[in-house]
Amino acid sequence: MTGVLAVAGGTASGKSTLAEALSLQCPESIALVHLDDYYVPAHDPLRGVWTVSAGGHAILDWNHPGSIDEAAVSAAIDMALARPGVRLVVVEGLFALTLPSVRERADWRVYVDAPDDVRLARKILRKIEVQRQDPRLSLLNYLQSGRDRHVAHVAPSRAAADLVVDGTHEGPEMLAAVLGLIGPLLSAVPDPLPDPLPAARPRRARAVTPRTHQLPAAAV
Ligand SMILES: Nc1ncnc2c1ncn2[C@@H]1O[C@H](COP(=O)(O)OP(=O)(O)O)[C@@H](O)[C@H]1O
Ligand SMILES: [Mg+2]
Repeated sequence: MTGVLAVAGGTASGKSTLAEALSLQCPESIALVHLDDYYVPAHDPLRGVWTVSAGGHAILDWNHPGSIDEAAVSAAIDMALARPGVRLVVVEGLFALTLPSVRERADWRVYVDAPDDVRLARKILRKIEVQRQDPRLSLLNYLQSGRDRHVAHVAPSRAAADLVVDGTHEGPEMLAAVLGLIGPLLSAVPDPLPDPLPAARPRRARAVTPRTHQLPAAAV
């Protein structure tokens, strides 16, 4: 038996942290699909949704679901499900419950909820600590479009969730709630559970594992 879990939520709510903690439970049996890795090419003006950056340049709108390559996401889910040993595919990203192709395919739908001020603070801290980015850029982009895009395209998807987890809670608490939702799917998995559960994270921005996604400095 296999299943697909969709994990949505606003930027910096804690989606990736939760998905990675989940995958550590059974690394051989859980495959992760990060929607951040599936934006259309940022250099092709004929694809995706375009906007004007805080600096006045035309850029791909990273906060719009129309900038995700849905066909590529579907293919990635198919490939992950076909991988030997994989029982659960976790699809995580801003639009995991917004994109019909992901939402309708998911067996379980989780929304990670955190107050806007917490998310913005985390986002800016991460930009400063990981990318050494001028926080003005994050703030300008947030005011110009990031906030509105969240309201229009991410927050409404909360209504589609089977489970809403509080993104300000400690990691193990969130993990336990999601494992409770999934139920027995993973219980028959032979992987030994790591010991202990991922420790509570210190309340500061962590170093994010670099991935191949194209999110630019401007994305908020
Ligand atoms: N439960 C939590 N408590 C405190 N900080 C958290 C928690 N979850 C995530 N964070 C921190 O918030 C920031 C954003 O987390 P991340 O998982 O990358 O968010 P998202 O994938 O939703 O954008 C990171 O610096 C991370 O360490
Ligand atoms: Mg993330």
